[in-house]
Amino acid sequence: MAQLWGGRFTKETDKLVYNFNASISFDRKFYRQDIEGSQAHVKMLSAQGILTEEERDQILGGLEGILSDVEEGRLEITDEYEDIHSFVEANLIDRIGDAGKKLHTGRSRNDQVALDMKLYIRDEIVETDGLLKGLLTTLLSIMEENTGTYMPGFTHLQKAQPITLAHHMGAYFEMFKRDRQRLFDIYKRMNYCPLGSGALAGTTYPLDREYTAKLLEFDGPTLNSMDSVADRDYLIELLSALSTVMMHLSRFCEEIIIWNSNEYRFVELDDAYSTGSSIMPQKKNPDIAELVRGKTGRVYGALVSMLTTMKGIPLAYNKDMQEDKELTFDAIDTVKGCIALFNGMVSTVRFNKEVMEASAKNGFTNATDAADYLVNHGVPFRDAHGIVGRLVLYCIEKGISLDDMSLEEYKAISPVFEEDIYEAISLKTCVEKRTTVGAPGEEAMKQVIALEKDYLLKN
Ligand code: ARG
Repeated sequence: MAQLWGGRFTKETDKLVYNFNASISFDRKFYRQDIEGSQAHVKMLSAQGILTEEERDQILGGLEGILSDVEEGRLEITDEYEDIHSFVEANLIDRIGDAGKKLHTGRSRNDQVALDMKLYIRDEIVETDGLLKGLLTTLLSIMEENTGTYMPGFTHLQKAQPITLAHHMGAYFEMFKRDRQRLFDIYKRMNYCPLGSGALAGTTYPLDREYTAKLLEFDGPTLNSMDSVADRDYLIELLSALSTVMMHLSRFCEEIIIWNSNEYRFVELDDAYSTGSSIMPQKKNPDIAELVRGKTGRVYGALVSMLTTMKGIPLAYNKDMQEDKELTFDAIDTVKGCIALFNGMVSTVRFNKEVMEASAKNGFTNATDAADYLVNHGVPFRDAHGIVGRLVLYCIEKGISLDDMSLEEYKAISPVFEEDIYEAISLKTCVEKRTTVGAPGEEAMKQVIALEKDYLLKN
């Protein structure tokens, strides 16, 4: 048992207590950030004359050695230490002796852990953002290739109006774009350095907190030392943003599962991204999409855990807050894994364009356009709606689509119809007439694609 305290104790910590309290099994994950934070702290201490230049150089050299030894597998982070901070400090003292004992001057583990977690989260935000960008790139290329791929758009999971595959993918593009913006906002808001807040009340050493903040690329130091060690808002915001990413992925997965079903056959998943059944030889299951959908609950769980953990904690630091790590790490790793897998799945999925188009044709998705045709010929919309309703009923009874009706049949229901009705309700016309910004018409869609391309170039 290697711990940083014990002077005022007369007994060893109970082994079970020690294990219950220790965090090394999970906070080892931010060893790099812990060392980076210490390096900045030491540079500041020496700039302020609190450490000599020799001491600074000895400590920096020792820390660099620990970092490279861990990274290259020469030094193992073992459970014999209470936490990652103890591991680094104990190793430093082993390496450089007395100078190592000065590293923790003007610092508490409370502001240290607050810093480490922020540094770690910043890196993870950047990584998650990169994965989301990769997914957006995949979606954009599907969009570019499919501005003329017709499919039904749904409401209530009932065929509603014809759209294109590009348009459908474009909806998800917007969602994941907002997810990136949310991550960016969180980064900006959390980017203030807590180091120098001490245990809760600052320190009596003449620390230069601005300088430490600058060395670690923060926008400045935090402004209240109590809040600095007790704030986990940014984790709650992050878990909320990650939950939203998962919600988007999950909706998308749900659609892929539906589209991949025997009844729809809109898509066929690549063999590399599907699984078989141990008993039913014919099966090709969308397990990956289902698992992503399933893991969404786990990330929501982390958000609720974090909110619940924080709700009754008096200022300032309390050990409850150590719980922030495992659940946040798990949520981040889950989300990153899911985005990467999902990207692989959509970039290899085969779209059955003929099936999609046939489905758009057979579901009366052009009924609104038939009503609009009547409106354009002077029929009030409410009457037009009724007339087309009767047309649809007639077609259902005969088992045909609006496109299959003869002009006589049309005229029997309303004399307003002329030969040009066929052109007016063709799938192509229905989509192409929708030219407002954000609509599926090819020209409108191409303008949006150009904007999205530009966005990806700049962000
Ligand atoms: N392992 C602790 C955590 O994750 C580090 C801070 C310890 N501070 C303390 N006063 N026990 O929160």
